Amino acid sequence: MHTFSPKIKPLGILGGGQLARMLALKAHSLGIPVTILSENKTDPAAQVVSNHTQARLDDPIALKRFLTSCSVVTFESEFLNANLLTTFAKQTGTEIYPRPRHMAKIQDRLSQKKLLLSLKIPTAKYFQVNTAQSAQRAFDSLGGNIVIKKRRFGYDGNGTYIIRSAKELATFQQNEFLNNPTTGTSYSDSYSDSYSHRFIAEPFIPFKREIAVMIARSRNGITQRLPFVETHQENSRCLWVKGPIAESPALKLLGNSLEEFLNQLKYTGIMGFEIFETDHGYMINELAPRVHNSGHYSLDVLSEDQFTLHLKAVMGLEIANTKDVCYKNSCAKTGFAMWNLIGSHQNSAQWQLKPDIHLHWYGKLENRPGRKMGHFNCLGSSPETALRLAKKNRRLFDL
Ligand SMILES: Nc1ncnc2c1ncn2[C@@H]1O[C@H](COP(=O)(O)OP(=O)(O)OP(=O)(O)O)[C@@H](O)[C@H]1O
Ligand SMILES: [Mg+2]
Repeated sequence: MHTFSPKIKPLGILGGGQLARMLALKAHSLGIPVTILSENKTDPAAQVVSNHTQARLDDPIALKRFLTSCSVVTFESEFLNANLLTTFAKQTGTEIYPRPRHMAKIQDRLSQKKLLLSLKIPTAKYFQVNTAQSAQRAFDSLGGNIVIKKRRFGYDGNGTYIIRSAKELATFQQNEFLNNPTTGTSYSDSYSDSYSHRFIAEPFIPFKREIAVMIARSRNGITQRLPFVETHQENSRCLWVKGPIAESPALKLLGNSLEEFLNQLKYTGIMGFEIFETDHGYMINELAPRVHNSGHYSLDVLSEDQFTLHLKAVMGLEIANTKDVCYKNSCAKTGFAMWNLIGSHQNSAQWQLKPDIHLHWYGKLENRPGRKMGHFNCLGSSPETALRLAKKNRRLFDL
């Protein structure tokens, strides 16, 4: 039995974007008091809570005060100062989930790779790239077809460079190292600057398709795995998701090993896994220690969506110990699709609503090219039917 009352210290969410907004909205539904720390009063998440603290997430005084006012704290982005969070969690006694030590390992692609390999999770081999010369070595060793990624702060394809020719490599070297006097051998000491010109390189993986899965793990070690879905990226940014993917024995095995991975870490919260499906099996592309775009479909498809599961896990509530995914209804079980509404111009967005789309609008004040403004979900008799419907309905949006 759990008691929530407005007198109990709230759950704190670090960050004010759409992920924090959807977490806060679900917290309201569950009766969990919630507070947000973010930079602007008009942020998507700040708009939906009465209890908001306006500050930068790297402001130590505001951060510590915020932690003191919360029972538990979670976050919408892993790119926070994990050392600071660890220190303040100890000093204030406030629990932070997922744990800052997991955040620290995953926020840096180099330590993330090492973590995956240490627990025998398949992922592409990698090289460290800190100089123009090491970029050249990676390019030569991996056959001239590589992907270079910023070690930290990459998102939506920002910080991902697909390099297929010597000319593209030369441009990358020029922009990142040769034109930049602060890089090469010395780095600035500031938290964000110290990683801005450090990369990993990996081979370009000729995948058949990209897939993803969300797995939640409660504080007492119960895991719940959501269905595998296909994700489609354009310009390295997610455009749509469809599912569910029928589970072959190999996919089931992968699912089990990812659940075991979370158990080994003693992880608490939800984790997103981005995966390449190749002719030779599955490879993890990257991890997200939080709710994730590939799980947004769950809002209209599953009896417990990714936000609800994450909240329950971090708050120490029970999550169902079921091996079977619980769909909202029989229609959701056969096929679903999620479409990201991405800005393409600067004018205000305009749209029409129809009953067969489930819209989730993020409330961002300005429409901008490349900006994720919202998403909608569609259901269908198969994943393909649901995706066709989503493609058709996309025309209702001018943004
Ligand atoms: N090694 C690779 N081989 C082939 N394609 C790749 C490789 N690495 C990344 N990509 C492509 O680039 C996309 C973005 O890369 P990645 O997921 O690593 O970066 P990201 O910026 O964190 O993206 P997001 O935040 O959208 O998940 C991938 O979804 C995939 O389509
Ligand atoms: Mg990604």
